[in-house]
Amino acid sequence: MAEPRFVPLPPRRAPALPPAEAARAFHETMRERRSVRMFSPRPVPFEAIEWIVRAAGTAPSGANKQPWRFVCVGDPARKREIRLGAEAEEREFYERRAGERWLADLAPLGTDENKEFLEVAPWLIVVMKLAHGDDGSPVYYATESVGIAVGFLLAAAHHAGLATLTHTPSPMAFLNRILGRPAHERPFVVIPVGYPADDCVVPAAALEKKPLGEILVRA
Ligand SMILES: Cc1cc2nc3c(=O)[nH]c(=O)nc-3n(C[C@H](O)[C@H](O)[C@H](O)COP(=O)(O)O)c2cc1C
Repeated sequence: MAEPRFVPLPPRRAPALPPAEAARAFHETMRERRSVRMFSPRPVPFEAIEWIVRAAGTAPSGANKQPWRFVCVGDPARKREIRLGAEAEEREFYERRAGERWLADLAPLGTDENKEFLEVAPWLIVVMKLAHGDDGSPVYYATESVGIAVGFLLAAAHHAGLATLTHTPSPMAFLNRILGRPAHERPFVVIPVGYPADDCVVPAAALEKKPLGEILVRA
């Protein structure tokens, strides 16, 4: 059993504003984030992707196991394969799997089985949840941990002036085959990253967020 070792909390850069104002400014930034499904082919340097993934990698995780891997795909042939794989699953989803209620809930977003963005966006970050460590060791609260890391990743990309989509073609096992990844890496979500297309539109319904009174309870 390892003995705990403690170090002083590293100093932070002093916030320029008091907490409420700083939080308000951050909210102003975050409320501009939108899921984008129409990307520009404009290149994004790999270095930007590296920094975004570093930010995701700072996320908290159960027992600090960091049960994630971020597979960053920029190769056009691979992106095409992913598009074809995703579209095959999505056709099944829209024609059979989704069911009436789910389709009704998706209707205001105007999504369908066409996933052109998977080829157009310069980068696809395929987030993998590790079922166990690479050495077979256990991981804890992996779903919660990877979800939080994805939140960091989306915020980092947005902060960098880039657009993202949280895409979940289901089932996603085809990604292991295309990307040559081992079975303990479970595809969690596919995140296209890039600039929005000049003529990009987003569903008006996505702008409707619940008011604070509905999501915050002061107890
Ligand atoms: C876990 C998760 C899965 C999602 N899967 C898809 C998807 O497969 N395809 C898609 O077009 N959007 C997907 N979305 C995006 C949502 O539709 C979008 O976040 C929602 O409509 C709100 O829009 P906003 O992100 O612009 O605020 C997903 C979002 C989340 C969080």
